[in-house]
Amino acid sequence: MHLLVTGGAGFIGSHLIRYFLGAHGDCRVTNLDSLTYAGNLANLRDLEDSSRYCFVKGDITDGDFLMRFFAETRFDGVIHLAAESHVDRSIANPTAFAETNVLGTVNLLNAIKASWEGDFSGRLFYHVSTDEVYGSLPAGEGLFTEETPYDPHSPYSASKASSDHFVRAYHDTYGLPVVISNCSNNYGPFQFPEKLIPLFINNIKSGKALPLYGKGENVRDWLWVEDHARAIDTIYYHGKIGETYNIGGHNEWSNISLVRLLCRIMDDRLGRNAGSSEELISFVTDRAGHDMRYAIDASKLKQELGWVPSITFEEGLAKTVDWYLSNGDWLEEVTSGAYQDYYEDHYGKR
Ligand code: NAD
Ligand code: TYD
Repeated sequence: MHLLVTGGAGFIGSHLIRYFLGAHGDCRVTNLDSLTYAGNLANLRDLEDSSRYCFVKGDITDGDFLMRFFAETRFDGVIHLAAESHVDRSIANPTAFAETNVLGTVNLLNAIKASWEGDFSGRLFYHVSTDEVYGSLPAGEGLFTEETPYDPHSPYSASKASSDHFVRAYHDTYGLPVVISNCSNNYGPFQFPEKLIPLFINNIKSGKALPLYGKGENVRDWLWVEDHARAIDTIYYHGKIGETYNIGGHNEWSNISLVRLLCRIMDDRLGRNAGSSEELISFVTDRAGHDMRYAIDASKLKQELGWVPSITFEEGLAKTVDWYLSNGDWLEEVTSGAYQDYYEDHYGKR
């Protein structure tokens, strides 16, 4: 089987490629990624020499490129993760989110449809989406199910919601075999240190303030990234075409409780006095349009396909902290910007 993963140099995509290659000895993976600031080929350093892995630098906003690319190779399946993914960046520059997440997805659908035309059987376009399309839940009440109406608030979630609608439209209109999953917040190794957990690990390590938005009361449902990769694999092979699956950890934490736990783990690992990292917490102006609470009902995935999360949040967060502390070089290359030379160093001029 020859699979295309888009956005494979990012956080979740790199875990997904590693998972697929490890789980399926008969599988080849091509990784198509334009290497934005979020793409880092060092995330896949251990796979570089594999004959079953190949990297192609390409931008999904370039429809002509995609048409040529898909005319050259008929992939058996595509798992689409390439996206602009950070809410704060979407508030600062919404257009980039419309271009990559909406137009890029439509370009991809067009190129895949042309490549697979007349022979959809055995093929699948898997669209990786987010629970943020469902909007915001009130504190302590309700869960997002697959039937929850879309109600996005940020430019990021609006762009992902739009891409989900296009994917369904290509299934309903042209019969393209698609599946969509909507997942809650991921955490783990290789996450870019602009997102809450790696940013705060990095700040605690260097004694910098921890900017907690508003009162820190917002709630997120956190999932270990390898559990997300395993859920995608399960849905890819066993999910029903045309269906949507919610993926989540049943693991809700308010930001303040999460950060306090993180501070305790960091104090322990860094040999600092208990309570010293908490002193770095600084309440700052709230994010505009900040969704109060996300929480996923993942019972469809459990009942139909038998998927459940594998580790507790306490275990996963401790593993994440340990990974960042023992991979200081990775963090240093990312924060200094040196990681952006990786492509030229390994693949020649851009
Ligand atoms: P990320 O920002 O770490 O990685 C995104 C990748 O896409 C990067 O490698 C980047 O270079 C690539 N990319 C961006 N624009 C591109 C373009 N125009 N052409 C080709 N490649 C491009 O993101 P992530 O956190 O790994 O998220 C991956 C996917 O999962 C996204 O679609 C996101 O919406 C979804 N998702 C993320 C989370 C989460 O908690 N991180 C949760 C649910 C769903
Ligand atoms: P983030 O990791 O950006 O994910 P998302 O916005 O997609 O949920 O943020 C997680 C939560 O942490 C969210 O409620 C916003 C909050 N947050 C802060 O309080 N301070 C920060 O510096 C960041 C990046 C996030």
